[in-house]
Amino acid sequence: MTTQEETVASTTHPAEPAPSTTGRSPGGLRTASWDRIRDLFALDRNSVHLNTGTVGAMPHEVLEVNDRVTREWTGGLMNVYPPAMYTEHRANIARSFGVDQDEMVICHSATEGVARVIHGLDLAEGDEVLTTTHECYSVLSNFNLLRNRHGLTVRTVTPPSGPDVRAEEIVELFERRITPRTKVLAFAGVTLFTGTMMPIRDLCELAHRHGLTTVIDGALLPGMLDCDFRSYGADFISCSGAKFQCGPLGTGLLYVRNKVHPQHNPLPLPTFWPIISTWYPMIGSPPPRTTTSVESCNMGDYLQSAGSANIARGAALARACELWDEIGRDRIERRVRDLAEHARSRLVEAFGWNSLYSPSADPRLRSPLIAFHPFRDRADAWNIKKFVEFVDRLEHEHRIWIRWTEFDVPGSPHQHYAARLCTHLFNDTAEIDRAVATMAGLARELS
Ligand SMILES: Cc1ncc(COP(=O)(O)O)c(C=O)c1O
Repeated sequence: MTTQEETVASTTHPAEPAPSTTGRSPGGLRTASWDRIRDLFALDRNSVHLNTGTVGAMPHEVLEVNDRVTREWTGGLMNVYPPAMYTEHRANIARSFGVDQDEMVICHSATEGVARVIHGLDLAEGDEVLTTTHECYSVLSNFNLLRNRHGLTVRTVTPPSGPDVRAEEIVELFERRITPRTKVLAFAGVTLFTGTMMPIRDLCELAHRHGLTTVIDGALLPGMLDCDFRSYGADFISCSGAKFQCGPLGTGLLYVRNKVHPQHNPLPLPTFWPIISTWYPMIGSPPPRTTTSVESCNMGDYLQSAGSANIARGAALARACELWDEIGRDRIERRVRDLAEHARSRLVEAFGWNSLYSPSADPRLRSPLIAFHPFRDRADAWNIKKFVEFVDRLEHEHRIWIRWTEFDVPGSPHQHYAARLCTHLFNDTAEIDRAVATMAGLARELS
């Protein structure tokens, strides 16, 4: 018979990181070839996955952790609440992104994270939020809900698109729309429609100058960039775990600034209500928010404690993050960007410089997501049927996976459709060449 103490001890065990199943020596992946790294992924060698911006591919080890931890916690009559706080995983993941455990939450998705931020902000009727028309639906719908519910004003700017856009244009666009009532600046780190790498630090500094709270939709950032969340200077960054980070679907990361480092963000911490929390005090109030670099409460714990959680998925996401640390996040960022520049030059050869919707001349705005117009006639930018056929035939006839996007273009009476590809560490130059050549042939046929 087990004692209560033994039961509690055993409850903390299964979700801890498992020993590596590959028997690699520490640091082994740091120097492994990209070909060997590709074998880590549960990705069929005959398919060309150029759509990580929608969903990544899980490494085999991540799948194994998900499966093992699910089995360990099924029907075991164990206390599931302590591991659902993911204390150790959050500390490790936070370190990888340059922040602390009390600022990091493992959540369900970028959408869930950003909704919990938007509805936790201390906003009232008459306050204004400034964002863009190029945000994900999850951001715009939640702000619109606040508008309907509390009478906020949601102002939007439409970021310029095209290869020659410069970072200053974007910052100036935002600056012109700030009013004395603006309280929040919200934007994607990388936009999903045109793959614009927003000038994150410059926009956060703009927000600091105007005393604004910054909410970044960072869905596409982790796993793509070697990010230092604190140095961006934002208050909140909500991320997907299942895109470039290649964790399981239904995982996300949420960074919540919980202490003041004036060199990164000199503003006081915003008032924030951590909605959906079983750890928030049941009586009375939490301590006032800190004004120093030492936290006054664990905001991450307030947000993390949301009842029972999918312990297996959290552990699997933590394993994906560990793998990235083993390979080297700096190395991965270089790889992803090199492949993107290879793809960009192939796309320009095939379709021309002006086919690009993604900013390309200004290196500060380049990301590995590239949106382009593949057809001869520019008027086809309004032809949804052609884009659907283009993407479907690539997938079904050639096993090449990209997507189409749809977005506002300044001065255009209609939204434009574009094809979008993105590169990740498991791609290689040969498959990109083959994919672009196939796209060029198919576009000619459809033009
Ligand atoms: C920029 C951006 N934000 C948010 C999301 C939603 O992500 P999630 O599925 O993790 O909620 C997406 C999905 O493609 C995205 O690209």
